[in-house]
Amino acid sequence: MSEISALDALATTRSIHRYRPDPIPDEDLSKILWSATRAPSGTNHQPFRFLVLRDGERSRQAKALLGSSFRKSWSVKAADEGWRDGADPDPNSRRFRTAETMQRFVDRFEEIPVVVLVCMARYRSSNPYEGASVYPACQNLLLAARALGYGSTITVWHGFCEAELRALLGIPDSVLIAATMPLGRPEGSHGPLRRLPVGELVYDDAWEASASWVRDPPESRFSRPRS
Ligand SMILES: Cc1cc2nc3c(=O)[nH]c(=O)nc-3n(C[C@H](O)[C@H](O)[C@H](O)COP(=O)(O)O)c2cc1C
Repeated sequence: MSEISALDALATTRSIHRYRPDPIPDEDLSKILWSATRAPSGTNHQPFRFLVLRDGERSRQAKALLGSSFRKSWSVKAADEGWRDGADPDPNSRRFRTAETMQRFVDRFEEIPVVVLVCMARYRSSNPYEGASVYPACQNLLLAARALGYGSTITVWHGFCEAELRALLGIPDSVLIAATMPLGRPEGSHGPLRRLPVGELVYDDAWEASASWVRDPPESRFSRPRS
């Protein structure tokens, strides 16, 4: 596999929602998890923990719980945000295709070869920034997966099954389940991220003061959040 530069990886690591069922060799999985554990954290406290679900009996049960929680979560989100509105949606629109992909993602969740529960052993719950010590590890996992030809995404759709999941896997209450990250070979490909133009996000010297020196590279693609 060809190597990818750190900057190219940053520009192209998309959230993957379509996975091939092929298992991930231990060596690759180990590299991805090792990279995740190299993330920074406050005072290098390293509160992140990674519970990897593969194909053992308990993992299969956990994936089944997660699968139904994900299906419920997407159905609530799709209804709340009107993803299925419109009597005759254009099947070529980005919105229609995204909704199709999300439905397929949740319908086939159990087939995803690896699911990682990214957890945080809480140690300073009075600190409002405590949670910030776990998400850099999620981003490291995304980038390491990308570098090795895999895909993942950060999700928080374990809410509907959290109590059962904790009981099944022995996760104590003192531990936060910060993200559920599927992992596998992507069916499609990674590609350019769509974000707001950099000039709308970076200020110079004062709040909302334009940073005239920032530039979007010519290949940039853009997307604006729905209000
Ligand atoms: C904190 C966080 C929570 C997210 N939660 C979910 C989720 O519950 N389900 C999901 O499918 N994607 C989730 N995502 C993925 C985002 O929807 C995705 O990153 C965003 O739409 C941009 O897509 P892109 O990274 O492919 O450009 C989450 C991402 C972040 C950073």
